[in-house]
Amino acid sequence: MTAKLGVNIDHIATIREARKIREPDPVTAAILAELAGCHGITAHLREDKRHIQDRDIRLLRGVITTHLNLEMAPTREMTNFAIDVQPDMVTLVPESRQEITTEGGLNAAAKTDDLTQIVSALKNNDIRVSLFIDTETDQVKAAKKTGADFVEFHTGRFCTAFELGSTAEFERELSALQDMVLLAQKYGLRVNAGHGLNYRNVGYVASIDGIEELNIGHSIIGRAALVGMDAAVKEMLAAIRRCER
Ligand code: PXP
Repeated sequence: MTAKLGVNIDHIATIREARKIREPDPVTAAILAELAGCHGITAHLREDKRHIQDRDIRLLRGVITTHLNLEMAPTREMTNFAIDVQPDMVTLVPESRQEITTEGGLNAAAKTDDLTQIVSALKNNDIRVSLFIDTETDQVKAAKKTGADFVEFHTGRFCTAFELGSTAEFERELSALQDMVLLAQKYGLRVNAGHGLNYRNVGYVASIDGIEELNIGHSIIGRAALVGMDAAVKEMLAAIRRCER
């Protein structure tokens, strides 16, 4: 089974918010990404609303035809918003105001009780829940305890090792990812992955059996700025399909 592609459209909103005007619209970008064949749309509503706005998520909910994955911090306020909007899935991510992008996974092991409450509030409202975690045994075990349906493994360390060309580090990170996918499956968790994936490194991750969906933002939106959304999404789909499992 080939991994599915979720396109993260946050950076279209980043461009819009650079001018605080109406264009470009992430909702239009999502529709174009769907027309190009992606399998889902992901958007991160940060607490500081610095790129995606409440309005974007509400409109996305209304217009997209694949599935909507809302990334958000595990707070009561965001949980209430998600229950109101009803995305297909919520991915809980850690958030700090100063970070340029999500820097690491959730510390599910340290916050198991708080996360369990939020996971259960979302699931009781028919929203699937995924926890964005690092490839660590304790985090997988904690994710299981929270009752989450999915984990999304943070591929940042793997991608950095790939870019630095460090073979030992690259192999260590790839094998950690493979091992953690197996462990998550053993616990009955479904598995997604993302962060830092691009046209050159995606094949290694896409070929790991058991990873259902890859959430990719920066590389696709960066390429879309130069060649258009249609070509950027289709090229990523082709890169994923090249390593059909
Ligand atoms: N998955 C999660 C949980 C994220 O927070 C992000 C970044 O917003 C991504 C995937 C996509 O990362 P990138 O933009 O590096 O492809």
